[in-house]
Amino acid sequence: MKQYYLDYNATCPQLSEVTEVMHDVANTAFGNPSSLHWAGRNARRKLDDARESLAEYLKVESGSVVFTSGGTESNNMVIQGVMASSVSGHIVLSAIEHPAILQTVEVWAKRYPSWTYTLVKPDKDGKIDATTFMAACKEDTKLACLMWANNETGVVQPVFEVSQTCKVKNIPFFVDAVQALGKFEVDLMALDADFVSFSAHKIGGPRGMGALVMKRGLKLESLMVGGGQERGRRSGTENVAGAAGFAAVLGKLDYSKLTDLRDYFEVKLKQAIPKAQLFGATHARTANTSMFCIPGLEGETLLMQMDLMGFAVASGSACSSGKREPSHVLLAMGAPDVQARSSLRVSFGVGDDEAVADALITGLLKVQNRLRQMSGRG
Ligand SMILES: Cc1ncc(COP(=O)(O)O)c(C=O)c1O
Repeated sequence: MKQYYLDYNATCPQLSEVTEVMHDVANTAFGNPSSLHWAGRNARRKLDDARESLAEYLKVESGSVVFTSGGTESNNMVIQGVMASSVSGHIVLSAIEHPAILQTVEVWAKRYPSWTYTLVKPDKDGKIDATTFMAACKEDTKLACLMWANNETGVVQPVFEVSQTCKVKNIPFFVDAVQALGKFEVDLMALDADFVSFSAHKIGGPRGMGALVMKRGLKLESLMVGGGQERGRRSGTENVAGAAGFAAVLGKLDYSKLTDLRDYFEVKLKQAIPKAQLFGATHARTANTSMFCIPGLEGETLLMQMDLMGFAVASGSACSSGKREPSHVLLAMGAPDVQARSSLRVSFGVGDDEAVADALITGLLKVQNRLRQMSGRG
C-alpha cells in the first residue's frame, strides 16, 4: 500500500542534510561549550555559529536568541517567566493559541489567583481582530500573546498591528511563531515583538530543538535554574548538534510555493464532496494547510479510516484524559460541537504535487462511501 504523509504541521521529516550536519558536529564538537579547554571551545564556536545564523535569518541580534528544547518550552518560559516576575497581573491572549500557551496560563492562574487573563475569540473564520484584541487589555495587563499562524487552520494573525499598539500602550508582546517559520518571511526587525518562540522540527530540523528570541534588556524569571547557560536565561548543557541542525535547516524548504497545491486540493474537494466545509479559507493562511469537515462524518473515525488507507492526516480534536475533546480552535470560531469534532487537517509538505491531492480526494470519497454503508445510509 502506498503511504502518504500529510501532517507536516505536526512534524516534518528531518532533512538528510540536517542529519549530516548534526552527525558531524556531534563527532567533532563533542565538548561541553562551558568547558575552558579546546574541546569546549570547539563546541562553543559551533553553538555561536548556529546562534549567529538563526539571528541573521530572523534579523535580530544574536544575543537575543535563547536555545530551548522546542516551542513548548519557549512558550512556557515566557508565560511562567512573566507570571513568576510579579505578584499579580493580567494577560490577554487569543482563544486559539497552542495548548502550550493556553494551558500554561490556565494552570498558573489557578495556582496564583491574583493573576487573571482574558481570552479573545476570533471571527468565524479563525482570525483575531486586532482592535478587539487590544480592547481586552487592562491597566494591569503585563503580557499580550498572539500566535503568528494557527496550527489547525493556518490562518495568519494580525501580529504587526497588535505589536504596534502594544508598543504605544507599553505592554510586552509575545508571538508564538512556531507555525510561521519557513512558511513565509519571518522578519523580527519589522515585527518588533518582545518575545517570539520557535521550533525546529516543523520545517525539517531536529525534534526537541527550539528557540526563544527576547528583546535586549527584558528579564524573565528563569524556568531552568542551574549552570547559568544561555546567559542565565536557560540553564542546562546546550544541545550543540541540535542548534547546528536548527541553523542548517533555515531557508532549505520553501513552503510558500504550496498555495497552488492547497487551492487545487480545496477546489477538487468541493467538486467531489460539495457539502465539505472549509475553515479559515477567507483569510490569508499558511500555504500548506487546509482544514475542513465533511458533515455527518466524525473527524476521528475519518482519520482512522484514512490511516488504514495509508494517509497520515490530523483531526482538530485533542485527546484529554482518554476523552476526545473537540477542537478548541473551531469552538472559539463559533463552530457547533459536532462540527468541532468532525474536522480534518491536511498539511502538505514541500515536494507534494497534484497527484498527492488527487489520491487524497479518492481516499476521502472511498472512506465517505464506506462509512455511509456501515451506518446503513449507503
Ligand atoms: C503553534 C505551535 N506552538 C507550539 C508548538 C509546540 O512546539 P514543540 O512541538 O516544538 O514543543 C506547536 C506544535 O505543534 C505549535 O503548532
